[in-house]
Amino acid sequence: ADMSLLILPGDGIGPEVMTEVRKVIDWFGTKRNLTFDVSEGLVGGASYDAHGTPLTDETMAKAQQVDAVLLGAVGGPQYDELDFSVKPERGLLRLRKEMDLYANLRPAQCFDALADFSSLKRDVVSGLDLMIVRELTSGIYFGEPRGIQDDNAGGRVGINTQRYTTAEIRRVARSAFELARKRDNRVCSMEKANVMESGILWREEVQWVHDNEYNDVELSHMYADAGAMQIVRWPKQFDVIVTDNLFGDLLSDAAAMLTGSLGMLPSASLGNPMENGRPKALYEPVHGSAPDIAGQGKANPIACILSFAMALRYSFDRGEEAAMLERAVEQALANGARTGDLMADGEAKPLSTAQMGDAILT
Ligand code: NAI
Ligand code: MG
Repeated sequence: ADMSLLILPGDGIGPEVMTEVRKVIDWFGTKRNLTFDVSEGLVGGASYDAHGTPLTDETMAKAQQVDAVLLGAVGGPQYDELDFSVKPERGLLRLRKEMDLYANLRPAQCFDALADFSSLKRDVVSGLDLMIVRELTSGIYFGEPRGIQDDNAGGRVGINTQRYTTAEIRRVARSAFELARKRDNRVCSMEKANVMESGILWREEVQWVHDNEYNDVELSHMYADAGAMQIVRWPKQFDVIVTDNLFGDLLSDAAAMLTGSLGMLPSASLGNPMENGRPKALYEPVHGSAPDIAGQGKANPIACILSFAMALRYSFDRGEEAAMLERAVEQALANGARTGDLMADGEAKPLSTAQMGDAILT
């Protein structure tokens, strides 16, 4: 089948790490006869510099047509003074919104070679492979009413609204159950049904989807604050965690730190299936444009390479090749390959971005 991919390198270290992904794509082409229909475009500050907007309508339309979008990073200090409407981040937000990417997949995987680099003890994180599915398009970051108002008593009041519909909960729950079936077949749903009505609805609807459509998958429920404790205490008890936008933001950042560096963390954002059955999809490293190291060849390309591995698995149904790429990363790390972010100060000389890419491909 045809496999189309739109690459948006973006700003700062985005283009640097994406160069290494291009090497991986070329490798699959020559060594495994696996070819992609790759196009490239601009996003963020790079697009603003060229076109006066962080995402053109043409690039937006292209993103809607392809099977998967792979994005580097956007932003940088040179764009900090820009008007809100043309800030680099708006390009990324527009992609997520118009593609309706409601399921944000944030894996927390610990490569054994880096287990001692985690903030936690080796036996707590070694072999860890957990997936947080965060609802991305609704909840308190979007709910109305919102704003800052006079409280009519001489002060002000800040308002945001947590709001979830049945349809919004069910679709992200389905994403989580589908994922679990490809993994260890277990989902833990997290909310605060003890103090929030939206949490009660969340729990009921996730349970409904389970009972009616996925009763082969093991489902448990946990209050999100207890979940936060468990993620730090014994994260290996979880397979897939599904949670709302706000709790998912916090829990996925906490889980991320179990694994070491920002330079290691991939993500996927998925929407509804397209006509060909593949989900609308955007893949990107969790890290930003890292202006402090941009242009110096110091960036760790692994987060972006693992994001491409997620594309292989979730957009192109190439789980075997995805696992192969992950094993290549694991092997390079086991052989001692380290970019600067994976070393303590004063250790041996770190690898450059390109050298790390080469270490993974050998
Ligand atoms: P950041 O993730 O860019 O950098 C945080 C720290 O981690 C820096 O010290 C950086 O050098 C290091 N780091 C990040 N990725 C790395 C990698 N691959 N290899 C080695 N070290 C790495 O976050 P920060 O500094 O808060 O934001 C910088 C810019 O990026 C801002 O303009 C921000 O708005 C933007 N940003 C963009 C995101 C995106 O495109 N999705 C996400 C987060 C921030
Ligand atoms: Mg966050």
